[in-house]
Amino acid sequence: MQTMSLITVLVVTVISVLSRSDAHNILAVVSHPGVSHFKAYENLFVGLAKKGHNVTVISHFPRKNPIPNYRDVSIREDRPYSGLQNIQSSLHTDLFGIQDQMLLVEYGIQSCESMKHKNFQMFLKENNHFDLVILNEFSNLCYRGLAKKYDAPYIGLGASSIFVWHALHTGSPEHAAYMPRLAAPYSDRMTFLQRVENFVSMGVVYWYCNFKYPSFSNEYSKKYLGVDILENNFLYNMSLLFINMHFSLNFPRPFTPNIIEINGLHIGTPKKLPEHLEQYISESKNGVIYFSLGSTMKGHTLPKEKRNAFLEVFRDMPERIIWKWENDTMEGKPDNVLLQKWTPQFDIICHPNVKAFIFQGGMLSLSEAAHCGVPIIAIPLYGDQPTNAKLIESRGAGVVLQIEDVNVKNVRKAVNEVLSTKIQKEAKRLSEIYRDRPLSPLDTAIYWVEYVLRHKGAHFMKTAAVHMPWYQYYLIDVIGFLVIILTSSILLTIYCIKLLVNICRITQKNKVD
Ligand SMILES: *[C@@H]1O[C@H](CO)[C@@H](O)[C@H](O)[C@H]1NC(C)=O
Ligand SMILES: *[C@@H]1O[C@H](CO)[C@@H](O)[C@H](O)[C@H]1NC(C)=O
Ligand SMILES: *[C@@H]1O[C@H](CO)[C@@H](O)[C@H](O)[C@H]1NC(C)=O
Repeated sequence: MQTMSLITVLVVTVISVLSRSDAHNILAVVSHPGVSHFKAYENLFVGLAKKGHNVTVISHFPRKNPIPNYRDVSIREDRPYSGLQNIQSSLHTDLFGIQDQMLLVEYGIQSCESMKHKNFQMFLKENNHFDLVILNEFSNLCYRGLAKKYDAPYIGLGASSIFVWHALHTGSPEHAAYMPRLAAPYSDRMTFLQRVENFVSMGVVYWYCNFKYPSFSNEYSKKYLGVDILENNFLYNMSLLFINMHFSLNFPRPFTPNIIEINGLHIGTPKKLPEHLEQYISESKNGVIYFSLGSTMKGHTLPKEKRNAFLEVFRDMPERIIWKWENDTMEGKPDNVLLQKWTPQFDIICHPNVKAFIFQGGMLSLSEAAHCGVPIIAIPLYGDQPTNAKLIESRGAGVVLQIEDVNVKNVRKAVNEVLSTKIQKEAKRLSEIYRDRPLSPLDTAIYWVEYVLRHKGAHFMKTAAVHMPWYQYYLIDVIGFLVIILTSSILLTIYCIKLLVNICRITQKNKVD
């Protein structure tokens, strides 16, 4: 008996020592204060900690309940994050995406400012060693300095679809002919004028990505980390990039092997609903529509006449509606509308009796809708929402309603459309395609993190594009060279012909003479 337990202890020790040798020190930084950027990857950080890695997470969202192997370094400010709160403020037309770029610069500076946070400063003074750095990638290139400081490979985390600098720094192709700029309300089949706008906007975005973001970011990196991120092509040294995409939900496009789609990483299994909601939903004979304008937008800033348009349509419907609303009351609320300040969104929309989901088109909610197979009405308001919305419409699993167009007639049309059998069926079909994968998004992400660790940065996955100056990448030198050769040979031929003609004339003249 004694020997048995001794052996057991020995085996357990050996196993834990063996698995410890695979455990690594990982630093993850989510410096953008928007919660969706953290939520998109929280499961990965937890998953890595559960696998035994020592994970340090610098973010605005420290865990309420600590878990083993997971250390928080909070850079949360006392004042609340003031993202886009007002629905009116973000209604704009953004020609060439210039306003978006300006907003991204603001966001980037705001993220880099967190380097001043006392917890971050204290963290820097510790004598830490990291095998891998994982960075939220949102025009906040300053934090890449951490990878250089700890001399570790780095992985980027994209919280939405791919941005142009993501593609640039990983050597992945960008093509203005069929890849609409992020936030443009275009599909991948653009009209001539849309392609013109898309092409010009790509030029604008390239300028920002090549000059503007790196320059302000480097100021912060040099000042707070003592690292120059522009030296030695370092920005192009990213090992891997996770993006919040899946080809079933995004317009398909080519990626280099160092870009991995992990859309759905934040999704778990639906939980049991609170009793009153479960009852409200399952007892509705005609199904339920769920309405939420998200966590960043305050519902009450939706202009009153737009709100009333929804209420008027809902009043005549046999379905029940759950409306996420920050107030206890709503003027003119019909009986079939239930107001809720807080809602377990995913658990609601995955309920089989929920027939439609009305929201802004944010990527995390969109993925949840796709996962649950519930059709959507998207009212895109900012950021990547117009593109996401367009996409679902082109997949036939929902409709887009522009906020300018919200009136009784259009709302009624949109609601009737999503409740139609055709769209209900398409949404179920999309869900089947979306979920059909070789590995779950979490297992995929953990696999690739460990792959980069195993292969010391796995730099062999990158294309040669990352080492090329732009004029070589776009073949400007080659085209220029060929144009010169071609023009000079044409000129030479013309000159020779002229010369020949002249000679002929002279000979003829001589003969005549
Ligand atoms: C885990 O990481 C922290 C850095 O935040 C470090 O101080 C600590 O020593 C590490 N623990 C182990 C067991 O390596
Ligand atoms: C790129 O990253 C690797 C670690 O993965 C590091 O050894 C190398 O020095 C880095 N290259 C540059 C140019 O910084
Ligand atoms: C709730 O509604 C009332 C009446 O419309 C309004 O005065 C109040 O500011 C609202 N409160 C919030 C938190 O929106």
